[in-house]
Amino acid sequence: MNSTKQKSVVTGGAGFIGSNLASVLVTEGYEVHVVDNLSGGKRENVPAGAVFHEMDINDTPALAEIFADARYVFHLAALPRVPYSIEHPQETNHANVDGTLSVLAAAKDAQVSRVVYSASSSAYGNQDTMPLREDMPAHPISPYGLQKYVGELYCRLFSEVYGLPTVCLRYFNVYGPGASAEGAYALVIAKFLKQRLEGGPMTVTGDGTQTRDYTHVRDVVRANLLAAQSAHVGKGEEAVNIGAGKNASVNKVAELIGGPVEHIAPRLEPHDTLADNSLAKQLLSWAPQVSLEEGIAELKKLANLP
Ligand SMILES: NC(=O)c1ccc[n+]([C@@H]2O[C@H](COP(=O)([O-])OP(=O)(O)OC[C@H]3O[C@@H](n4cnc5c(N)ncnc54)[C@H](O)[C@@H]3O)[C@@H](O)[C@H]2O)c1
Repeated sequence: MNSTKQKSVVTGGAGFIGSNLASVLVTEGYEVHVVDNLSGGKRENVPAGAVFHEMDINDTPALAEIFADARYVFHLAALPRVPYSIEHPQETNHANVDGTLSVLAAAKDAQVSRVVYSASSSAYGNQDTMPLREDMPAHPISPYGLQKYVGELYCRLFSEVYGLPTVCLRYFNVYGPGASAEGAYALVIAKFLKQRLEGGPMTVTGDGTQTRDYTHVRDVVRANLLAAQSAHVGKGEEAVNIGAGKNASVNKVAELIGGPVEHIAPRLEPHDTLADNSLAKQLLSWAPQVSLEEGIAELKKLANLP
């Protein structure tokens, strides 16, 4: 490995967003290390050129060794599904809260320059007004939302108490190439594309009027790079929304993909999400670049769907 390359570590780098990020970091010339226990991710997602460590993030001493001399740690490893967390609150707490604490403790010991934490818009839960702004009080309505929010609080605490530079990015529904369509917890765009490929109807939960702010994975990856390098963040004070700033109903997503629809039982979830992304513009000079129409058209093309 070229010792002049800056080292960065991506936890969860065998997963959807983490593998997209690791791939860009390799292209940008970083020495990239991926830490992942493959509970949700796949070995083949890890990009060529990255060093892969198959391990659990709760193994703090092993993590600290990998973090030695690292400039950036991008912490994405998590069990990231709302319904799964409702069924398994303790297992998801171990991965999402204990795991984040372990990453922060190892990063502190290794004196890394910055930890970029993948937080979630699910911290907001149901709010009375839209768009969602970072100064609104968190009101998570699932174990997952709470756990991701606790991770933010730990980041802030590690910055304040131990001086570890951290920044938290609250992603809004991320989609794009590589998103998992597997299992009952697949997110809606990947699930609909899979259903179309299999020739079945797209299953819309409830009446489909619920809206989400869909954010393309390339925009999320770019936000991570900017958050690692920006001089305006790093003290853990900021949880920064990374969302397109436009929302679309599930019915609209189905219409853009095109095909028959079947309605199934609604589930416990916020009715709407919509990011106010002005803080990301201000602190990171970040703005979304991929529209939902472009993003879905690209995915349809990749899947050979008409
Ligand atoms: N996808 C979204 O819409 C979205 C929205 C908001 C926040 N996020 C956050 O972004 C991050 C990445 O999400 P994703 O969609 O790429 O999920 P993903 O499931 O594809 O990736 C998560 C990865 O973490 C790994 N992992 C889980 N537990 C682990 C552990 N204990 N030790 C080591 N590795 C472990 C999994 O194997 C997987 O590869 C997560 O932190 C998630 O909470 C995602």
